Amino acid sequence: MAGKPRKNGGPMTGNQMWGGRFSDRPDAVMEAINASIGFDRKLYAQDIAGSKAHAAMLAERGILSKTDAKAIGKGLDTILSEIEAGKFDFKPSLEDIHMNVEARLAELIGPAAGRLHTARSRNDQVAVDFRLWVKAQAQALHAALGRLIDVLLDHAETHAASVMPGFTHLQTAQPVTFGHHCLAYVEMFARDRSRLADAVSRMDECPLGAAALAGTGFAIDRRMTAKALGFREPTRNSLDSVSDRDFALDFLSAASIAATHLSRMAEELVIWSTPQFNFVRMSDRFSTGSSIMPQKKNPDAAELIRAKTGRINGDLIALLTVMKGLPLTYSKDMQEDKEAVFDAAENLDLAIAAMTGMVAGMTVNTDMMRKAAGSGFSIATDLADWLVRETGLPFREAHHVTGRAVALAEAKDCGLEDLSLEELQALNGDITARVFDVLSVEKSVASRKSFGGTAPANVRKQAAYWRKRRAKE
Ligand code: ARG
Repeated sequence: MAGKPRKNGGPMTGNQMWGGRFSDRPDAVMEAINASIGFDRKLYAQDIAGSKAHAAMLAERGILSKTDAKAIGKGLDTILSEIEAGKFDFKPSLEDIHMNVEARLAELIGPAAGRLHTARSRNDQVAVDFRLWVKAQAQALHAALGRLIDVLLDHAETHAASVMPGFTHLQTAQPVTFGHHCLAYVEMFARDRSRLADAVSRMDECPLGAAALAGTGFAIDRRMTAKALGFREPTRNSLDSVSDRDFALDFLSAASIAATHLSRMAEELVIWSTPQFNFVRMSDRFSTGSSIMPQKKNPDAAELIRAKTGRINGDLIALLTVMKGLPLTYSKDMQEDKEAVFDAAENLDLAIAAMTGMVAGMTVNTDMMRKAAGSGFSIATDLADWLVRETGLPFREAHHVTGRAVALAEAKDCGLEDLSLEELQALNGDITARVFDVLSVEKSVASRKSFGGTAPANVRKQAAYWRKRRAKE
């Protein structure tokens, strides 16, 4: 339409939506830096839904005629199917998804299209579109994490009593069960889900109707549009409505923490799948080979999950940095909010799916875990605890006696349980043969019955607790 004479008013130059006061076209570089259609076309469904709700409300309030509202609704439906069929011509000269849709609507239904933007601005329009998108993504990731929890629960149940070394400083610390270890991740991913749910509940307010920044003189019904779009209620302050991007930051911070959890788990899987550890074997479907070393089976999926955390954390920092200096209300800087969120959502979704597939298909080498659990004097604490319990020794002294037992076993290249009663009694005369009742990894884990401890009975109970919670969702 650029440069063509218009029916009402003078010649139109440049952008047909706001070009009225302009006499020159934008520079090509200006167009390049200004256009967001390359990425915000992702918001097409939300943009169309927002416009339909807005038009229906305008008609309900008598601001728009029923005939125009009908034509607008029909036109928007046509555009939706055009976009979904890949038949829509997105134009960078029309900047963004909002103006691309509106311009096409004008082509389809004529001047009535120009009435859609009554009592609305792109500022509240983009705010509502983006919220709708982020909300749906948060809900999808919430569900995806639920599926990851389910496969972890499968392992937790199967391996409630499979002993493995528990680590601190990546040094063998005390025996735990593999089921208990899986449930630790269940806790972490469940917190991630609650952070996402929390974010969703906070963002569940509709900014549409805030208009440019100050609200509008038209007698609109914001509750109606909020409800039609599935929001709990409208936002309460028009300035905040168009300048707030907390919902995106909430989403990104929840995503970063979830990605961090996935990365820690990925790191463990990388370590555990080495021939040196050999605790787990990845399925062929989630491993790759080496083009030069035929013996290799690489945990690439785990490594990539670990690496995805970098970009997702980067996305959070990018948006925090965009927002930190912005005066109220809308500034064009905020157009840079989208790609970071799109990137984080896409990559977190992929990382969760890869982790779910990897965990579901991996083989757990319980023999290797059992063997490793018994090495490194992992039951030393059990000996110290026994001394406290049975001989009344203060823990610090029991710790010392046990340390000497460890040194002796180390010198003899045997386990603590392989020392003779005489050798133990030489370290502390009160030790009796009953001490051998606690000196095995199985007995050690079975004894850890304190709430939240690793005893197999506890692990089974906790797994059942999570199963029940999942079933109730
Ligand atoms: N494409 C813009 C964005 O993503 C839409 C809002 C434009 N608003 C404006 N006042 N220029 O933020």
